[in-house]
Amino acid sequence: MISNKKKIAITGVAGFIGSNLASRLLAEGYEVLGIDNLAYGLRENVPDGVRFDLKDIRNKEIYPLFQGVDTVFHFAAKNCIADCQADPVETAEINVSGTVNVFEASRRAGVRKVVYAESSALYEGSSVYPTPESELKPESFYAVSKLASMYFAKAYETFCKLKFTALRYFCVYGPVQDYRRTIPPVMSAFIIKLLKGERPTIYGTGEKKRDFVYVDDVNDFHLICIRDDRTTGKTFNIGSGINYSVLEILDKISRILGVNPDPIHKDDLPGEAQVTLADITQAKSLGWEPKTTLETGLERAIDYIRQEMAVGRIP
Ligand SMILES: NC(=O)c1ccc[n+]([C@@H]2O[C@H](COP(=O)([O-])OP(=O)(O)OC[C@H]3O[C@@H](n4cnc5c(N)ncnc54)[C@H](O)[C@@H]3O)[C@@H](O)[C@H]2O)c1
Repeated sequence: MISNKKKIAITGVAGFIGSNLASRLLAEGYEVLGIDNLAYGLRENVPDGVRFDLKDIRNKEIYPLFQGVDTVFHFAAKNCIADCQADPVETAEINVSGTVNVFEASRRAGVRKVVYAESSALYEGSSVYPTPESELKPESFYAVSKLASMYFAKAYETFCKLKFTALRYFCVYGPVQDYRRTIPPVMSAFIIKLLKGERPTIYGTGEKKRDFVYVDDVNDFHLICIRDDRTTGKTFNIGSGINYSVLEILDKISRILGVNPDPIHKDDLPGEAQVTLADITQAKSLGWEPKTTLETGLERAIDYIRQEMAVGRIP
């Protein structure tokens, strides 16, 4: 049977942002093809209805999969900053060579547009807040790998007429966030420890500030990327435009859970910015706005971790 639905491909579909987007696209009536090598993501994160292919983005085997695809969302990456600092070679293999392979697969298949993940890490060395898209100061291996993706996208745009939208996510949070990393994202790490009745760990003083944006709000922008041509050839900060310190986040989670934690303090992590705060003027100019309050988002993130614990996925 021939389908009239637009086909959307997602790399990294078994991860946090990819699986959330897959669910949203299926609900919106799109046909979804998902690729992941399950290096970090989980098969059970991939929603029913996705045509899933267990493939590595570095492999040329992915080329035929992109036939008939309208838009590619490229999320697959090695993206824990600590892991990337420990292994710059693999970081480059996945985030640079793998990304170029996805761009090449898209070019060969005549994909209409590639939407790909950059990161607020590109602003690591900047102290301009809120940070506009023009402020490029990457420092860590992870950030530098994302910068390389950016330049490859520009070259594909110039020489191969492939169209792109680049998204610089700040701290995306919500259900399915990966809590298994060497250093889990701060919210998941706190929620897990507090639900277990254990002491949470704070790296550094806890005064580091982060701009958090809820994953459903991010998906609202992903849909705009498919539907609105004004996103083509552009780069957008995707954050909330508000930031909170690590201590404030711990306080908010503790209040929701009704606990009074005694955190363990450890040395600051290398390669991490002290402050992130997005200038989201460009994304807002297309009618997008983050709608989820931090409290609502945290309650949903807590519900998800509770469910994971209930089914025994978090020991
Ligand atoms: N989550 C955030 O707050 C955030 C912030 C800035 C940028 N980003 C970027 O957004 C994208 C998605 O992030 P996420 O939080 O969903 O990450 P995630 O780790 O949850 O998902 C990434 C997925 O990519 C897969 N993958 C890794 N290497 C692969 C390979 N070689 N071949 C195929 N699949 C591979 C993993 O198995 C995983 O399922 C990443 O590119 C990340 O760098 C995320």
